[in-house]
Amino acid sequence: MSNAEDHAGTRRDFLYYATAGTGAVTVGAAVWPLVNQMNPSADVLALSSIRVDVGSLEQGSQLTVKWLGKPVFIRRRTDEEIEAARNVELSELPDPMAENANIADGSPATDANRTLDEAGEWLIMMGVCTHLGCVPLGDAGDFGGWFCPCHGSHYDTAGRIRRGPAPRNLPVPVAEFVDETTIKLG
Ligand code: FES
Repeated sequence: MSNAEDHAGTRRDFLYYATAGTGAVTVGAAVWPLVNQMNPSADVLALSSIRVDVGSLEQGSQLTVKWLGKPVFIRRRTDEEIEAARNVELSELPDPMAENANIADGSPATDANRTLDEAGEWLIMMGVCTHLGCVPLGDAGDFGGWFCPCHGSHYDTAGRIRRGPAPRNLPVPVAEFVDETTIKLG
């Protein structure tokens, strides 16, 4: 990421190894294990948390972190991505629920209910398609967010399912900023 300035304006997908010795993170259409593909349960979360340094992540870029055996997308969104997501009517969403473990169950899937910060710059989601568990591709699809090539699910810039067979928005795991540049998952 040190040469990030050399590619200003280009969106990138960074791979980040948050854990060691448990195998490589796979980005792309690889099939992720189908079991427990949704939000990990609270008791599992209690056992394991990691901290991720996001200090060098520029707007329009994302990290993929392996956590609890699954990929987690940490994206720092551009103003355009935020605006696009905030302009979507709830009635257009196949899954109207926020699917965010940090807020009350049943909260609506507004963009503000999906992001970690009030400005909406930070979006953190499990990188596991809610259809059958593939890993969606970033900066792809008809809605400028993520695209799962396995069976054609399109997610928007807030990670909400918009078209295709996936039934749910990409789940937002328990996460918080513990200082200005560090996000704790779990
Ligand atoms: S696993 Fe993503 S569309 Fe089927």
